[in-house]
Amino acid sequence: MRIKLKLKTKLKTKLGLINKTSKIFLIALVLNFFSLFPAWAVPQVGQKFMISSVSPQASEAAKKIYQQGGNVVDAAIVAVLCMSVTSPYYAALGGGGLALVHMNAQVEALDFREAAPLKSSARMFMDAQKDNQKAPAGLYVGIPGMVKGLWDLHQKYGKLPWKKLFQEPIHLAQTGFQVGGEWQQNIFKQKDRMNEGSLQTFFKKDKSPYLAGETLKQPGLAKALSLIANRGEKAFYQQEIARDLVDTIQKSGGILSLEDLKKYKTRWLKPIEREFMGYQVYLMPPPSSAGVVISTALDLTEKLELQNKKILSSDELLGLAQTLKLAFSSRFSLGDPDFVQNPTEKLISREYLQKLFDILKLKPSEQNSKIESLRQTVSVATDNSALEHPETTHLSVMDSEGHSVAMTVSLNGMLGSAITTPKYQIALNDTMDDFNTRPGQANQYGLIQDNANAVAPMKRPLSSMSPTIVKKDSQVVLTLGSPGGPQILSSVFQVLYRKLVNKLDIDLAIQTPRIHHQFKPDYLYVDQNKLSPDVLEKLEQNSYKAQGNFIARVYAVSLEEHPLFKKKMLFGAFDSRGEGLASGY
Ligand code: DON
Repeated sequence: MRIKLKLKTKLKTKLGLINKTSKIFLIALVLNFFSLFPAWAVPQVGQKFMISSVSPQASEAAKKIYQQGGNVVDAAIVAVLCMSVTSPYYAALGGGGLALVHMNAQVEALDFREAAPLKSSARMFMDAQKDNQKAPAGLYVGIPGMVKGLWDLHQKYGKLPWKKLFQEPIHLAQTGFQVGGEWQQNIFKQKDRMNEGSLQTFFKKDKSPYLAGETLKQPGLAKALSLIANRGEKAFYQQEIARDLVDTIQKSGGILSLEDLKKYKTRWLKPIEREFMGYQVYLMPPPSSAGVVISTALDLTEKLELQNKKILSSDELLGLAQTLKLAFSSRFSLGDPDFVQNPTEKLISREYLQKLFDILKLKPSEQNSKIESLRQTVSVATDNSALEHPETTHLSVMDSEGHSVAMTVSLNGMLGSAITTPKYQIALNDTMDDFNTRPGQANQYGLIQDNANAVAPMKRPLSSMSPTIVKKDSQVVLTLGSPGGPQILSSVFQVLYRKLVNKLDIDLAIQTPRIHHQFKPDYLYVDQNKLSPDVLEKLEQNSYKAQGNFIARVYAVSLEEHPLFKKKMLFGAFDSRGEGLASGY
């Protein structure tokens, strides 16, 4: 499938870039006729159910559970549990996430993001780093929200018994699965950071790596999954797994306690809902910055009348770059809604939008200081963001009745803290690093953030994770999301734009080259080697110096008319920038 996707992307590039969906489709049909492509399988098409995720095993298991009478919630839970076995560098029981769920005709947001331990404080990382000593890895572990998140989601909307959802994940952990190219690379790169539990789990006894095609078994994780299957979330938060977690984290210099685990709670939140070009777009509210940033960006494209510009022309990209830069300036006024008064309504108001728009009329050299002063009117907080690394993942699930789950799960860094518990083989997050850990200073990814996002006990750090659902005339037509740190926001925004405004099919909307601007640092990030030098030159002439680097990967399912059969069908697609499988029927 990967080869097919790459060929397809190459073909699109050769054709002078997309836009002409029908032209490409025709050529594809001709090529198919001559058997140049064995099948035209991406995006995956189905009538009843569709999932798109990073892990082939997860997508297949999710489809199977739906076929056995489960619903989209059951499918999403199975997928995440499978990913905790097959893709622990992105998703593990020791992480957390954010989800939008469309059940019973309404969209709700579930926050199961990691929280700061009770012993945390705003200065903890500064104190730990005295004498230029790096803070210990254990200190970056936030209270994992994953198991409670899946449990609460199942309590509210699950259809099949909780225990049944664990059969395939336990099987994968117990009897093993074949590691792939991405697994081999992602794990190997983290070797030097790993604690003994990670080394024992992810390397062979002689500490040599598992290579693609070899089988990895995780008996400890299989035991943990069985305990959670039989006893529910308590096994993780209050019983033997909890003791394994606390023991391991404290040995690695962390402060997380049994009390923290016992106290952890998920939150159901109201999504931010925006009308855009006749669609209802549902976005994640704080503690995610998605609602504010993406809705501002969408609104600005309307004001700039970007829809009249040719796709991927320098004029259009310049407009998108300006849009992103301004929209991102709102991100840093936000924090956990239980701890700070987020100026959400003000930031997405028409008046504030007009003020941002007015800045666009200024010369580029005058814009930054104006954006800064405007920001100060909404918040006392300051500062910016920089690139993070690709260590999160997203899955999108949808069925023919419009039930859908958009769920982004994460350990934050690649394999999180690189700490894995020795007994139950649970990989742990380093999500505390999403806080403003050292005010005024960049974190390990170059992030410098605001007071609104300072560390406090039981507080959740600000996120860029953007699970998103779109409806038209009360019907869900799109569900999507992505990993990629701040690039999540720009990627989800651009895929929404390509789909809702340019009307590209979901696969083309995802594969189209993207750009990223996050206000600070003042760089434009572009998909490497995917934009023409002429276009890049034009952007540079307008003060947008481009750097090649793109890490976000979108996973989406859409409901759209099949061009051949003139019938609405479910299309699952994922980014050719990384691994994945869309699976449906
Ligand atoms: O919540 C956030 O914004 C980050 N922890 C997400 C990290 C991420 O997406 C890294 N992966 N690419």
